Amino acid sequence: MSENQESLAKLGHENRLFPPSAEFIAQANAQASMYDEAEKDRLAFWEKQAHELQWDAPWTTVLDWKVPFAKWFVGGKINASVNALDRHVAQGRGDRVAFFFEGEPGDTRTITYAQLLTEVKKTANALTELGIKDGDRVAIYMPMIPEAAIAMLACARIGAPHSVVFGGFSADALLSRIQDADAKLVITADGGYRKGAPFALKPAVDDALKGKTNVKNVLVVKRTGQETHWDSNKDVWWHDIVDRQSTEHVAQSFDSEHPLFILYTSGTTAKPKGISHTTGGYLTQVAYTHKMVFDIKPETDVYWCTADVGWVTGHSYVVYGPLINGATQVMYEGTPDTPHKGRIFELIAKYKVSILYTAPTLIRTWMKWGDEFPNAHNLKSLRLLGSVGEPINPEAWMWYREVIGGDRCPIVDTWWQTETGAIMISPLPGVTHTKPGSAMRPLPGISGKVVDDNGKEVGLGHGGYLILDKPWPSMLRGIWGEEERYKETYWSRFDGVYFAGDGAKIDTDAAIWLLGRVDDVMNVSGHRISTTEVESALVSHAAVAEAAVVGAADEMTGQGIVAFVILRGGIPNVCGEELIKELRAHVAKEIGAIAKPRQIVVVQELPKTRSGKIMRRLLKDVAENRAVGDSTTLADPNVMALISQGLSTAKDED
Ligand code: PRX
Repeated sequence: MSENQESLAKLGHENRLFPPSAEFIAQANAQASMYDEAEKDRLAFWEKQAHELQWDAPWTTVLDWKVPFAKWFVGGKINASVNALDRHVAQGRGDRVAFFFEGEPGDTRTITYAQLLTEVKKTANALTELGIKDGDRVAIYMPMIPEAAIAMLACARIGAPHSVVFGGFSADALLSRIQDADAKLVITADGGYRKGAPFALKPAVDDALKGKTNVKNVLVVKRTGQETHWDSNKDVWWHDIVDRQSTEHVAQSFDSEHPLFILYTSGTTAKPKGISHTTGGYLTQVAYTHKMVFDIKPETDVYWCTADVGWVTGHSYVVYGPLINGATQVMYEGTPDTPHKGRIFELIAKYKVSILYTAPTLIRTWMKWGDEFPNAHNLKSLRLLGSVGEPINPEAWMWYREVIGGDRCPIVDTWWQTETGAIMISPLPGVTHTKPGSAMRPLPGISGKVVDDNGKEVGLGHGGYLILDKPWPSMLRGIWGEEERYKETYWSRFDGVYFAGDGAKIDTDAAIWLLGRVDDVMNVSGHRISTTEVESALVSHAAVAEAAVVGAADEMTGQGIVAFVILRGGIPNVCGEELIKELRAHVAKEIGAIAKPRQIVVVQELPKTRSGKIMRRLLKDVAENRAVGDSTTLADPNVMALISQGLSTAKDED
C-alpha cells in the first residue's frame, strides 16, 4: 500500500469543515439519532426501513445469515414494480411527473407516474407474450431513454431478472454477458444519440447473436429511425408489440429473495462477475438511502442522477430508489458537451433541478472547461449535491461546492459498489459536518471498518483496508453461477468479513477517506475495468505476445489505462502509430470504447521477478512519471531503463 501511504500524508492537512446550515437542518429527513437507534438494534432498524415499502405478505425472519450467504426479510412477498409505480398511482400521485426526459437532439417527453405505470404494464404483457416467465433472464442493451427504465420495471414486474449491459460495451462483451446469464430475450434500440449524432446499437446485438445463445427474440425500440437490419423470425419492434397490449396487468408477488437483477462488473480476472441482487432487501436499502442521503422531498424536489442505467448507480438511483420514493427526475440521453459545454447547467435551470448526483470525473471536466459555463445559467434551484464512483479530490469538492452549489448546498460524497447495491458510507445532509474529499462515516445500519493486513482495526489516524463486517440488506447474494468465486473474491482475504477491494484511511475524527483500489482493478471515469481484462484483449490480437496493463493517475479520469506490450516475433514495429491505433481499436472491439488504453507502449521486455511475475508496481511508477521504486528483485535489472525510454517517446492519444 505504498501509494496509499503517500495519499495519507497529503490528506493529513485537510481540516476544513462544512456544517449544514440551520435552514437545512430544520427540514432534513435524516436525524442524528438514527445512528444510536441503529446501533442499539440493527435488525429492528432495518425492519423499520422495510416497513416503508408495500409488502404483499410479511416476513417471518429479518435476517438469515450463514456467512457469506444472507437472506433478508425471509418469507416476505413483494413486487418491485408495484412499489415503484402502482403504489403512487393508487395513493393519488398518478399525475406527478416521474421523468422529464431530454433527448440529446433536444426532443422532450414528460412522463407521469400513471403514464409510466401504463407503459410498464403493457411492456410486461408484451414480455409475457414473448414467452418470458419469472426466473427467465432478460438482457437490456439500451441508450438512456425512458424505455430503458420501462424495460427494467417490466422485467421486475413479472419476476424476470434483468441484466443491463451498458450501451457502450462491444458486441463481444454483450455476447459473453448474454451467455453467462443464459438470457432468453434481448431488449435494445435501433440506436441513440451521442455527441451530436446517432449511433447504432442493433448491429452489435446482431453481431453478438452470431455466437451460441438461447436468445429467442430481440425487442427493438425505434429511437433514431436509422436503417436497421431485420430478421423477422427473431426481431420484434417495440411499437408493434407493446402498443397493442392491454393496459391492465396484475402484478404477482415474489419472494423477498427472488432475484431482481444481475449486473456484470470487472474484478481481478478477465471474466466479469455477474453480481446478483435480490428484491426485498435491495429495495429497502435503496429507498432508505435515497430518502436520507439525498433528503428527497418528492412533492417539491427535482432530482437528477446523471448515471446511465448500464451502471449500478442507474439501477439504484435512477430506477428503483427514486421511483419508490415517488421522486420527479430528469433523464438525459446525451453527453454533457453537446451541443455546448453548458448543456447540463442549461437543463438544471430549465427543470429547476434541486438535487444533483454525479461523478468526480465530470466535475473535474467542468472545472477544466471553465466557470463561465455554469455561471451563464441560473443554478439557484440546487439545494444538495452528490458525488459517486471514485474519490473526489478536495479541489474538485470545493469547486463543486462553490461554483455549482453557490456555497449553500451540502455535498454528499457517497461510497458504495455494484456489490453493495446501495450507498454504504456517506454524510447525512443536515447532520454531518463534511470535510472536502471524505465520504465521512458508514450510514446508520451499516458497519464498516478500516483494518490492517491481519484484519485488525487500525487506530484513528491510520490507513488500511476498508471492510464491511456485518451483512446489509442490499448486499450482493453471490456471483451468478460462481459460488466458489464469490467466497474467494469477497470473503477470503479476511475471514468472514466482506473485503471491498478499497484502501482507506480513518482520520483522527473518525472520518473515512477512500484511497482507491488495492487490487488489479482500475477506476477510469468512475468505471471499473480490470487490468487482466485489457491484457487478455490485447493478447488476443495477432501482433501481441504479452501485455501488462496498469492504471496511472489521470487528472481528468481518475485513472488512465497504460499498456505495455511485447510484439510477437517477426512483427516489426515499423508502422508504430498505425499498430498502436489498431491495438486500441481492438480493445474497443473486445470490451468497449471505455477500455481503450490511453497509452500503449511497445517494449522489448517486461519487468519480471525471477519467478516470472510481472512487477506492475514498477510499470506504474513509469506510467506516472515517478522514479522507479525498488527493482532489486527483477530478473533483469536493465529492463526498467529501457521501458522508461520507450515511454518517453510514446505519444498520448485521444
Ligand atoms: O473503488 C471504489 C469506487 O468505485 C468502486 C465501485 O465501483 P462500481 O461497482 O462500478 O460502483 C460505482 C458506483 C457505486 C469502489 O470499490 N468508488 C465508488 N464510490 C466512491 C469510490 N471511491 C471513493 N469515493 C467514492 N465515493
